[in-house]
Amino acid sequence: MNKILGVMGSPRINGNTHVLVSKILEGAKEKGAATDIILLKDLNIQECDGCHTCWKGNECSKSDDMNNIYPRIIDNEIILFGTPVYWYGPTALMKAFIDRFVYFNCPENRAKIKGKSAVIVVPFEEDNLETADLLVKMFEKSFEYLEIPLIGKIIVPGVTKKGEVIKQEEIIEQCYNLGKKLAI
Ligand SMILES: Cc1cc2nc3c(=O)[nH]c(=O)nc-3n(C[C@H](O)[C@H](O)[C@H](O)COP(=O)(O)O)c2cc1C
Repeated sequence: MNKILGVMGSPRINGNTHVLVSKILEGAKEKGAATDIILLKDLNIQECDGCHTCWKGNECSKSDDMNNIYPRIIDNEIILFGTPVYWYGPTALMKAFIDRFVYFNCPENRAKIKGKSAVIVVPFEEDNLETADLLVKMFEKSFEYLEIPLIGKIIVPGVTKKGEVIKQEEIIEQCYNLGKKLAI
C-alpha cells in the first residue's frame, strides 16, 4: 500500500485546491493507504538562495519548517502537488516549496526522492484549458529533471468561488477514484 502526501499550495483554506486534494486523499484512505496533508499557508518556507549547503551532506541552511517536511516527503511514495493557477503559474507558496527541492538535486540526497511519483491538482477561473499549460509544463519539466514520474493530473477550469468545485460531481468522483487507484 502506498503512502500519499498531499501538499496544498493555495493560501485559501477550504478553497478549490483544498477540496480536490482532500478528495484524492479520502479515496486513498478508503482503500487503506496512509495519507498525510501539508497546508503550505500555515508554514514558514523561505526561498532557496542556492547556497548548496545541502549538497555537502548537511541539513538545509534555512532553519524553517522545510526541515521537518523533508522527512515527510521521504516517508511517502506519492506526492500530490496542489496549486491554483496564479498568473499562469503556481502560487508563491508552491513555488517556494518546489524551489526547496534543490535539496534532492545532489548525489547525497538523490536516492531520497528516487522511486517516488507525483500527481498535480490545478483549479483555475478561466474556462480555457490552455490557461494551465505553462504551469503544467513547469511541473512536467521539474519532475522530469528530478526523475519523478507524473502519474496523475487533475486540471479543473472554470472555478473561482471558495470551494465551489465541490458541486462538480464528476470531478469530485474522478479525484476520489484517482485516490483509490493511487493507494495500491
Ligand atoms: C493572485 C491570483 C492570481 C490568479 N491568476 C489566475 C489566472 O492567471 N488565471 C485564472 O484562470 N485564474 C486565476 N486566479 C483565480 C484562481 O485560480 C481561482 O480562483 C482558483 O479557483 C483558486 O483556487 P483556491 O480556491 O484553491 O484558492 C487567480 C487568483 C488569484 C488570487
